[in-house]
Amino acid sequence: MSVHPSPDSTPSGRKPITLHRLREMHAAGEPISVLTCYDAAFARVLDNAGVDCLLIGDSLGMVLQGLTSTVPVTLADMAYHVRCVAQGNRSAWIIGDLPFGSYQQSPAQAMESATVLMQAGAHMVKLEGGGWTADTVHFLTQRGVPVCAHLGLTPQSVHALGGYRIQGRDDESASTLRLHAQQLAEAGAAMLVLELMPSAVGAAITAGLPIPTIGIGAGADCSGQVLVLHDMLGLGHGKQPRFVRDFMRGSASVEAAIRTYVADVKARRFPDPALHGY
Ligand code: KIV
Repeated sequence: MSVHPSPDSTPSGRKPITLHRLREMHAAGEPISVLTCYDAAFARVLDNAGVDCLLIGDSLGMVLQGLTSTVPVTLADMAYHVRCVAQGNRSAWIIGDLPFGSYQQSPAQAMESATVLMQAGAHMVKLEGGGWTADTVHFLTQRGVPVCAHLGLTPQSVHALGGYRIQGRDDESASTLRLHAQQLAEAGAAMLVLELMPSAVGAAITAGLPIPTIGIGAGADCSGQVLVLHDMLGLGHGKQPRFVRDFMRGSASVEAAIRTYVADVKARRFPDPALHGY
């Protein structure tokens, strides 16, 4: 086998999504479609349906494990699900969440944890938090680990934030979010998730950044969108947040629902500013 395997094709028929390809999409103004994914069976479906990035989110604590927050999720839990997704995936870009407690102590601790997820099959790791994470982002990216940062509602800090609340509502907190976004991009983050903030704040952060933003409840002007898979398949329990759309409604199969999601994100039909924004 060549040490430089050809990226030309996969059984799903599309070229593997690389960081280079994601940068091209961003430069061309093509929205990036992302969904959470936790196992090989769904990875196959999402990959076939053309989802650009599969995020093994620590939301698996709530979605799969029935917990009330992501805080108890461990690095071993994450590595197990990253490995499962990597087995089912052929061409999508795989992002693995660093869970609570696996990167906060030091950049070296983050590198050790990132190594576990990369060796399980992740192409990129995601970590939550503002300016204090910039040193860690720099440390990881200098060592060959692509990093996705995450601002706004950062669920691992739910107890410090006082609940799952919209962030950046006043001028001061909105400008802090903008500052942190700049710092993270300068530190080398290649992507930035923006969660639960007014659409205008999501738009302002996106407009000022050289890297793509991926919104979840952050408005229609982000460079891409992400939803929790089970929520968009109508499997979420309890009252769903405003930004969720049930794509199973009117779809004949799970794959059809995912294809509609991809098509609607790419055509900027989802999210609908009148229905899903703040
Ligand atoms: O854990 C997760 O699924 C996430 C998304 C909600 C962005 O971080």
